[in-house]
Amino acid sequence: MALLIRNLSQIATPAGSAPKRGRKLRELVTYEKSVIVVREGRFAYIGPENDIDDAVRETITEDFDARGATAIPGFIDSHTHIPFAGYRESEFNRRLSGETYSDIAASGGGIASTVRATRAASEEELSANVVTRARTMARYGTTTAEAKSGYGLNLEDELKQLRAIRAAGETSPVRLVPTCLAAHDFPPEDKSNAWVERIIDEIIPRVAAEKLAVFCDVFIERGVFTREQGDAVLRAGARAGMTPRVHADELSDTDGASLAASLDAASADHLMHISDAGIAALAASNTVANMLPATSFFLMSDRYAPARKLIDAGAVVSLSTDCNPGTSMTESMQIVMQLATLQMKMTVEESLTAATLHGAYSLRLANETGSIETGKRADLVLLDAPSYFHLVYHFGVNLVRDVLRDGRFVVRGGMYLG
Ligand code: NIG
Ligand code: FE
Repeated sequence: MALLIRNLSQIATPAGSAPKRGRKLRELVTYEKSVIVVREGRFAYIGPENDIDDAVRETITEDFDARGATAIPGFIDSHTHIPFAGYRESEFNRRLSGETYSDIAASGGGIASTVRATRAASEEELSANVVTRARTMARYGTTTAEAKSGYGLNLEDELKQLRAIRAAGETSPVRLVPTCLAAHDFPPEDKSNAWVERIIDEIIPRVAAEKLAVFCDVFIERGVFTREQGDAVLRAGARAGMTPRVHADELSDTDGASLAASLDAASADHLMHISDAGIAALAASNTVANMLPATSFFLMSDRYAPARKLIDAGAVVSLSTDCNPGTSMTESMQIVMQLATLQMKMTVEESLTAATLHGAYSLRLANETGSIETGKRADLVLLDAPSYFHLVYHFGVNLVRDVLRDGRFVVRGGMYLG
C-alpha cells in the first residue's frame, strides 16, 4: 500500500539529519522531473519515476497528481505558546498608539492578562484551542510544533495546560512536542523567590512524574528571571529528564545565550539582544539559535536577531513563529521565512533549512523528520508554486495546497481534512 506523488515541478529539501553550519546552510538538495513514493507513513523513494525499484513499484496502490506543485518538508515550528485562552487585541491597539510591551505589562496587561484568561479556561477548552491553532498551522504547512505552558503559573494550571497539549495530540493534524515553561513569569500573587522554589520542588517533579513535557524552558529577562534563577530551574528540569530550552536575550542582553550553551540546551530562543560573546558561545555549541522574527515585526521593533552574524560564526540556526497572543499572533512559518530573508538577510535556502531540519534537530527529531529523505516520516508540503523561491518571492499569501503528516493527507486543496 504505497502512494505515488507525481507531476511535481520541483522537490526542495535539506539533506540528511545533521545540522548545517556556515556556508553549508545554503546547500539545499533539489530534484526536477521526480516523484515521491510514500509507504507506511514514511518516504520510500524520491527520484525519477523510471528508477523506482520493483519492490517499491509493486506496492503502489494510489497515484496523486501534484499538478506542478513544489514539494518541501513540513515546517517544524520549534517555539510556540499555543495553549492559551483569550486574545489581547486591545493591548495590540494600545501598542499602535505608542505604548510599549513593557509599559503594558507594568500596568497589569501582557502575560498576566493571558494568565487570567487561561486559568479561567477548562482543560477541554484549552485543548480545543490547541487543536484549532494546530489546524491553522497545518493549513500553513507546519507538521510538527513545540507547545509551551507558561500561562498557568501555579501547579494546577501549568499541569492543565500540559494535559491540554497531550489531549490535543490525539486529534491534532500537527505532531505536538510539549515544553514546561512554568518559569515564564512570576505569578501575579507571588513575586518572590518562593515561586522559583515551587517550580523546582513541586511543579517540575509533578510534570516529570506525569511525563507531561519533553523540555523545560525559562524566560531570562531583566525584571523577570535572573540568569541564576534560570540556571537553577533548568538544572532541576534536566535532572528530572527535561532538556533545557531558554528564552534568551529577547528584550535585553542578560547573557542568556551563553547560559543555554553552557547547559547544552536544545535551543536559545529570541536573541534580539545577543552579545558577541553569546554568539561565540552558541557557535561553539550544539545549542540551536532559534530566531523568531515575527516577534520583532509584531512588536514593531527594528531589532531582529543577528542572523548573519550567527550563521557566519558557525551557529546552528532555526526559525519559529513564537505563536502567542501578545508578541506574535501568527501560525504562519511562511511569513517567518519571508521576514528571515527580507529583514534578516538570510537566503531562501538558509531559511528553508532553518524552518525545517534545524527545528527538528532542536526538538531531537532530526532522524525522524525535517527533510524529504528515504526512511524519514512522510511529513510533506505541496506548494502551489513552480519552485521553492516562491516561498519568499510570492509573499503574503498561503502557497500551501496539500499537506501529509506521517504519510496521511491532513490538508488537501488548501482545505483541512477532518
Ligand atoms: O516569547 N518572552 C516571553 N514570552 C512570550 C510573550 C508572551 C506574551 O506576551 O504573552 C514571547 O515573546
Ligand atoms: Fe516565546
